[in-house]
Amino acid sequence: MTDLFSKFDPLIQQRQALLDTGVEDPFNLVMERVLSPTVAVCNGRETILLGTYNYMGMTFDPDVIAAGKQALDDFGAGTTGSRVLNGTYAGHRLCEDALKEFYGMDHAMVFSTGYQANLGIISTIAGKGDYIVLDIDSHASIWDGCKMGDAEVVPFKHNDIEAMEKRLKRIPEGAGKLVVLEGVYSMLGDIAPLKEMIRIAKENGAMVLVDEAHSMGFIGPNGRGVAEEQGVLDQVDFVIGTFSKSVGTVGGFCVSNHPKFEILRLVCRPYVFTASLPPSVMHTAATSIRKLMHAGDKRAHLWENSRTLHKGLRDKGFQLGTSEPQSAIISVIMPDLERGAAMWEALLHEGLYVNLARPPATPAGMTLLRCSLCAEHSAEQVQAIIGMFERAGKSVGII
Ligand SMILES: Cc1ncc(COP(=O)(O)O)c(C=O)c1O
Repeated sequence: MTDLFSKFDPLIQQRQALLDTGVEDPFNLVMERVLSPTVAVCNGRETILLGTYNYMGMTFDPDVIAAGKQALDDFGAGTTGSRVLNGTYAGHRLCEDALKEFYGMDHAMVFSTGYQANLGIISTIAGKGDYIVLDIDSHASIWDGCKMGDAEVVPFKHNDIEAMEKRLKRIPEGAGKLVVLEGVYSMLGDIAPLKEMIRIAKENGAMVLVDEAHSMGFIGPNGRGVAEEQGVLDQVDFVIGTFSKSVGTVGGFCVSNHPKFEILRLVCRPYVFTASLPPSVMHTAATSIRKLMHAGDKRAHLWENSRTLHKGLRDKGFQLGTSEPQSAIISVIMPDLERGAAMWEALLHEGLYVNLARPPATPAGMTLLRCSLCAEHSAEQVQAIIGMFERAGKSVGII
């Protein structure tokens, strides 16, 4: 018998070698208690959270929590079924109405996760004979959506407008075309030049899907994302998003103005063949989305935090993923996995939690310490974080 697990041996060995150095497992940290959007107890110690994607700090918003508790009382713990058969509750409609209003679009469809939203929408709308043109650094859920469907998949170099245009022009006349982009690319925290890319996509007869997972709630005057910020939201055919980041719970969605959009509820397999989200999640999400419409002050404070941390780390000598802060993600580039893990652990001992990211999730084989800021981080916390980075960086020999 061939052990089907033998293909994982190189990864098992790499992981073991890392743990043998005595470092704490960076991919297995337990948050024993969570005290607020920015502080948790890890290993019995209060730790500042800087790796949560909780950009707008909605997880502990009193209105959001009250809505979830009330929904538990009114509708029970779960739906136990698919949206199409027995799983559409009032909360799903409430949430889809909130999304339509948030984006000013005609249609909204809620999925159980953002991963499933990409999987479902991409694999369903791009079929045999169609072409998907996508950024090579796209999120795994976008790649998996391509894999699940039957379309031809044509990647182009990250954020390279010319490369995208060349690929589009090579597609045979008359074929269906879908360009898939992200607003913020979550590994380095850089944004896409959506304005130019969408113009070229449209000139070449393509439909456009933009994943705004890491920009919803924060970027753009109304928090609708990078497409809103760059004034091109009305040209986007499909916006994909998640509730697991700024919204502060779990779930995914697609919004669109396409007149035939509703047919997807019958043909999109990751929507049809899975249980819907529990009512408590739907009511928390709907409440959070409505509050995010009026969160201009929080957005301004989060930009302030992003600018301060970026400048602070750069001034201390760290190499960062972007030359200017472009989002709420500040990525610190590590020389290799071993020193990345050592730095991650040194930061944890300082009382700071960040994300250690490594290939294949990262571009160009990089090891990154990814920091995601929150609108609830105080100015004092951000200064404390910079001090922790400085001490940890010196102790590990990175700066
Ligand atoms: C760009 C992007 N799209 C989609 C997702 C999936 O979202 P979810 O956590 O809701 O499955 C993520 C999650 O990290 C993401 O970064």
